[in-house]
Amino acid sequence: MSLALSDDQLAMYQRDGFLLQSQLFDIEEIELLRRSAKADKQLDDHSFGRGDGEGGTVRLALWNHPGQGIYGAFARCERLVSAAEQILRDEPYHYHSKMIMKDARVGGAWAWHQDYGYWYGNGVLTPNLVSCFIAVDPSTHENGCLQVIRGSHLCGRIHHKLTGEQAGADAERVAEVAKRFEHRYVEMAPGDVLFFHANLLHRSDQNHSEHPRWSMICCYNAKSNDPYKDSHHPRYTPLSRLPDSAIKEVGAQRFSSDEHAMAWLDPNREASASRLEE
Ligand code: SIN
Ligand code: MN
Repeated sequence: MSLALSDDQLAMYQRDGFLLQSQLFDIEEIELLRRSAKADKQLDDHSFGRGDGEGGTVRLALWNHPGQGIYGAFARCERLVSAAEQILRDEPYHYHSKMIMKDARVGGAWAWHQDYGYWYGNGVLTPNLVSCFIAVDPSTHENGCLQVIRGSHLCGRIHHKLTGEQAGADAERVAEVAKRFEHRYVEMAPGDVLFFHANLLHRSDQNHSEHPRWSMICCYNAKSNDPYKDSHHPRYTPLSRLPDSAIKEVGAQRFSSDEHAMAWLDPNREASASRLEE
């Protein structure tokens, strides 16, 4: 089987701390995800908000185990997992997934942060984790696309403090980093995927536009980076991979009968799915 990422792409990821893959998911696949998510009452019921420190509120739903539904078909598919495996140079396991529901007009901002700034406290010893940001809606400058500081993963872990109800990276340090590294707005079409390093600084603006900007982010940890203690996210749990074709199969089932109307969340395993400590 051919590898998901070329050596050049891996070198770019290591240099920049991120890699944008256009149309990793085709229109049909991403439309199945978009339609499922927007009509998903359970996802909506499990969403929660946090003040963004700028007068707005971010809304998201978060779950630890990928599950059998359409979200699991994405998080477990060969295309995503094999890319994560090349990036981590190790067996990836699912650390969690989340739907960022940046709604039209009211969607909140995310402060500059590193994901490892949140996860450090979970007993994770190294930043060898990767986040895979899947654009569900178009993600543009206007509706609050993700912004990154290219190469900032090389700064190591930056101290995080509470801003509003979010933890943000130390502002003085971020300002200095921004003087030396390039600040980039990552506009994305539905189906594009941004792979990014756990120490990459990223943020996004509030959404004042008429267009929603939902995104699903699947996060993977390396097996060798198994947390040394329990937290609200799982320790090493083998990931059962699915062929890429599973997305369309599961998606077709999803819309063929109400029976499959959503089974992503197992309440016994997801007791902590309403916390922002990612
Ligand atoms: C996140 O960092 O988890 C979300 C950022 C965003 O969607 O803007
Ligand atoms: Mn983040």
